[in-house]
Parts: sequence; structure tokens; C-alpha cells
Amino acid sequence: MFSLCQIVGRFNRARASRLTLPHFVCQTPLFMPVGTQGTVKGLTASQLEDIGCQIILGNTYHLELRPTSDLLHQLNGLHNFMNWPRAMLTDSGGFQMVSLLHLADITEKGVTFQSPVDGKPMLLTPEESIQIQNRIGADIIMALDDVIKTTITGPRVEEATYRTLRWIDRCIAAHKRPHDQNLFGIVQGGLDPVLRDICVKGMVERNLPGYAIGGLSGGEDKNSFWRVVAQCTAALPEDKPRYVMGVGYPLDIVVCSALGADMYDCVYPTRTARFGTALVPEGVLKLKNRDMADDTRPIDPTCPCMVCKNYTRAYIHCLVTKDAMGSQLLSYHNLYHMMQLSRDLHSSIVEERFPKFVCDFLRRMFPKGN
Ligand code: GUN
Ligand code: ZN
Repeated sequence: MFSLCQIVGRFNRARASRLTLPHFVCQTPLFMPVGTQGTVKGLTASQLEDIGCQIILGNTYHLELRPTSDLLHQLNGLHNFMNWPRAMLTDSGGFQMVSLLHLADITEKGVTFQSPVDGKPMLLTPEESIQIQNRIGADIIMALDDVIKTTITGPRVEEATYRTLRWIDRCIAAHKRPHDQNLFGIVQGGLDPVLRDICVKGMVERNLPGYAIGGLSGGEDKNSFWRVVAQCTAALPEDKPRYVMGVGYPLDIVVCSALGADMYDCVYPTRTARFGTALVPEGVLKLKNRDMADDTRPIDPTCPCMVCKNYTRAYIHCLVTKDAMGSQLLSYHNLYHMMQLSRDLHSSIVEERFPKFVCDFLRRMFPKGN
């Protein structure tokens, strides 16, 4: 198998690793920007390389609607189509349909939804999700899972957990490119420790090249979230990557890395940029605020990115919400900030100064101690 996860440093449960994927050798912990439709909004592929992005994420559901996996296959895959030379991961589609389309209905066959193109009912099965992802050609592909909101309790959580385990076998059987695409299983089970345990053990038995922890970042409290991550990382094999889906904020990434997770994705850095918010070591900086209008400092004086080297807060305040360039510059800085956080986590673990890194990170974010 291609996806070789070589641990290069540890501190307690935290790990730094080298992840060898077909298109790129990555260093973890790492953050993956979301490029839903074959583009990370506002940035070119070469800018993503400049900021040190190692993997970008695409969504099966969006790519199948446009440009379609048939066309992508014909044009030699998504890497070639969008001119992205490094690694790529595609999500299976179920989560996007359930979170975007309230009309989606999940049965044993798959996820049924109304086509946004012509309103016709459509069915995405585990087999089809894998077939589409085989055509798109990402380095890592995700199994179709039965996703529910973390706030749901009762028998539906149990049904989703067991269905996710039944579907993983259909995904494995349908996967035609195990030699150059790594199929990750997704651990579900809501906030129930017994169901999580059943699901994580079931996934590990399938001996997959990597595992994701799903069903989080959906409005549950932080203690429940961290407890689930800790339980799953403790039960997953050491020599395989662990990906916490849909996470997140810099603080969550630091905590999950301390708990032994390796990979993250979230729309937050680019979405919040479009609303005029920059990520800084102290938390966030709202560029729309009136006091930014004559502030001649860079967004973050400690940030060496192209935006912080060249532009003032006053300039970005003036552009933001008025010109696309405003959100593009903010997205660039925010993703640079996430890439820098990934690099800092990796090097602090390798260089055996992870506790100091975490203390400094927390002290900057919570100077008053709360
Ligand atoms: N993205 C965020 N959470 C999830 C999840 O639980 N499953 C999938 N497939 N994608 C996600
Ligand atoms: Zn910057």
C-alpha cells in the first residue's frame, strides 16, 4: 500500500509523521483546505503551493454535479484538470448531501436526494460513491458513511453506526484502485462510547490504510467532542493516519493533535475570510471594524506571508466586502496561518518542545487565563 505513515516524533499521545501519498510526501499534523468544486475559493493552485499546502479536499457530490466524474476521468483526473500537483482527498458525498439538502433520505441502499439540477430523485450508493471517487482520482478517498447530527440520540444513532459498518464492506468491494488510492473508513457512533467502540473496532478489523473520526463538529459541547476523539485515537492503530473530519478552529486542531490525531479539514479559514475575519495568534481580527480604517500595521505583524509583507489593515478594510481582492487576500493569509500552525505542530513534536508550543499558543490566545 502507498499510504505509509512513518512516525518521526512523539510527545505522549501527540505524533508527527511522514505520510507518503502517490502525489506528495506530507508531514503531519496537517490541515487540508477545502476545494469543494476543484478550487479553493479565491486562490490559485500555485498560491496554494506557495503557502505550503500539502493536500486539498474535494467533494464527490459537488464534483459529480459539475464538471462530473465522467469528464474528469476523460481529462485524466482532477489533479490534471485543476493543475494541482500535490495530494488530494475526496469526501464521499453523504455528509454534504445530508448537511446541504434537507430532503436527503438515508436507506440501506444509500442516500436518496433530489437532484439540484432537475429535481429528480437520485440515489448515491456506497458503490457509486467509490466509483465516482475512483474516476476523480484523489490520493485518499472516503467511504460512504451514514451521517447524523451529533445532537441526535436514541435508536437512529445505533442504526447509523451499524449501517456505516455494513457500507464499509460494500465500499471495499467496489474499490477498483487500491494500488494508487487509499480508502479511509469513517468511525461514527455519535457521542455514545459503546457505539464508538463497536464502530472503531469494526473499522480496525478491516485493516484500511487510514481512518477518519466523523460525526463531530456539529454543535456538540467541547468536552464530548474531545472525549470522542481521545477514545477513537486510543483504539486506532499507531501506524495509520487519523483524520478528524470537519475540524476546525486552531484551538481544536492543537487539542486534537495532543490527543493523537493527524489530519484536519474545515471551510472555516476561507469562509470567515469572506466575512472579513483574519486568523491571528490572539484569536481573530475583524477587518470590517471601523478602527481598522487607518491602521497601518499588517494583519499579523508576526506573520511572514505575502499579504502581511505587502498590505496594511487599512487597505484590506477598504477592500473587504467591496472587492473580491479583499476576501482573496484574507483567505491567503488565513490559509497561510493554518499551514504555519501545521508546520509548528510538526516541528515542535519532532524537536521535543511540544508542551512549550502548546503553552505559548494558549497564552497568546487566552492572555488573561480564561
Ligand atoms: N465531514 C465532516 N464530518 C463528516 C462525517 O462525519 N462524514 C463525512 N463523510 N464527511 C464529514
Ligand atoms: Zn499573513
